[in-house]
Amino acid sequence: MRMRITRKQCLFVVTVLSLSLICIHLLTKSGKVVDVWNREALEDLLDNTLLQPAQKFAHIPVKWKDDILQLLPKNNCKCEVEPTMDIPFRQELFGKPYAVNFASDVDPSVLEETYRRREQEYKKFKMRTYHPTDRVIIAKANSPLEYPVQGVDVRPLKTILIPGLGLQDSLKKVYKVSLSCSMGTFDVAAEVEGVTVKGAGEKHITLSSPLMDNLNRQLQFVSYTNTVFHPNTADTVHFQTDDHVAIFNIKIHHPVVPKMYNPGSSDSKYNISALVTIATKTFIRYDKLQNLIDSIRKFYPTVTIIIADDNKTPQKVDGPFIEQYFMPFGKGWFAGRNLAVSQVTTKYVLWVDDDFIFCSQTKIEKLVDVLEKTPLDLVGGAVREITGFKTTFRQKINIIPGGKDGDCLMTRLGYHHIIQGFPNCVVADGVVNFFLARTEKVLQAGFDPRLSRIAHLEFFIDGLGKLYVGSCDDVIVDHASKIHLPWSKSETDKAYETFRYPDSSESTDVRHNLFYFKNRFGYVCCLA
Ligand SMILES: *[C@@H]1O[C@H](CO)[C@@H](O)[C@H](O)[C@H]1NC(C)=O
Repeated sequence: MRMRITRKQCLFVVTVLSLSLICIHLLTKSGKVVDVWNREALEDLLDNTLLQPAQKFAHIPVKWKDDILQLLPKNNCKCEVEPTMDIPFRQELFGKPYAVNFASDVDPSVLEETYRRREQEYKKFKMRTYHPTDRVIIAKANSPLEYPVQGVDVRPLKTILIPGLGLQDSLKKVYKVSLSCSMGTFDVAAEVEGVTVKGAGEKHITLSSPLMDNLNRQLQFVSYTNTVFHPNTADTVHFQTDDHVAIFNIKIHHPVVPKMYNPGSSDSKYNISALVTIATKTFIRYDKLQNLIDSIRKFYPTVTIIIADDNKTPQKVDGPFIEQYFMPFGKGWFAGRNLAVSQVTTKYVLWVDDDFIFCSQTKIEKLVDVLEKTPLDLVGGAVREITGFKTTFRQKINIIPGGKDGDCLMTRLGYHHIIQGFPNCVVADGVVNFFLARTEKVLQAGFDPRLSRIAHLEFFIDGLGKLYVGSCDDVIVDHASKIHLPWSKSETDKAYETFRYPDSSESTDVRHNLFYFKNRFGYVCCLA
């Protein structure tokens, strides 16, 4: 049905619209419209020619060193599994090395469109996360200008004195310097005799004097006031005299507001109930969950246990210090982790799977000690199978810059180094399903709820650079065995496995599509 708009209705709409615009204008006190994007040229964000050798002395021959060239980023990558050393039993121990191209898992009929959208989102992401202090600034030699290269900070819309400005020039009739910026204004906090100041209160200020000492005295009182609000950016200042320009940044940001947890009163020993919450996610296996709770209570009778539950027919798990959260049926693995962690109110959260069992070697205190005494954010333990085999699943994650196809994700078993003072602990990028972490930092990294079934390492990939990860092999939790003889499987085991271990490639497709779009990976290679 077509709407017919009469002149009257039209007039009415126009009047209401203009009235509301006037109201909005009156209600918002500051009508200043500010471009929230960074003011500097954004088109050359992906341009890193400054990082390459300049053309200036290109005529002088060089001798390249291949071993060093290989280490440099190439801005294109494809995983090819190299034949590695022939260690006996290598394959049996670590599995076969493999390489996967994620683009091949994207539906071919939408690949082109998906690729275009991914690159578009990537460009926006780069623009959003661009930070002016990321830019390379080179101080040229022989400048008579003295200035702060880094470390000058101002709160949004506040004023500071700029430290370290000076001029050391050869003899001249008049000494003259100027400063310019884009997100604030300059002024002087005091005036010095014999110095002429032009442009006080503006984006461009000029100071001149026949006496260099007086000019230098005046430069000690130059102030900067931020006038364009931004919670976290920087203003690039150009400081210049006749033939020389110096460039430096003033960082504009709110103070970092700490988010801290009260650890409770403790004399010498850690009060685990006050410091740690145990979080888990359960699906179908209530028998296993009960065994876990019983084992925890043997050692930690008052620590809070949070359970995220997405069963079809939920059962109430009773007991003191237990919080059970019910979710819609089958929401999945990472959604459950997210929910459980979001409800934690202690400084640390201990993640356990619902089929783990605490034993005398499950000393949470040891993991707390590592996080209390180091800057680490997360520390994993070891999971022991019924066979006695212990796994810490320490991973090194490497992201190699790629070109248009996307970056390469490489994961490898191993760690970076041992932690001083903790001989059983190492630094790595990813660890096993049993870890203690700063609640705040886990929330920052987050568990992507789109990963509903098999997922684990994805959390550490999303947390790369945000989480400082360690692993200790002397804190051990037992794993109710996965190895079952087919005739001894209970009905719940069978039901669980159809969900947890889907044999269709559906969940792999979800993961690969997330790697392809969300993380902008082109390829993955796992090297054992
Ligand atoms: C440990 O913390 C719990 C929970 O905050 C508290 O109830 C308990 O009294 C504390 N124990 C000691 C010994 O301080």
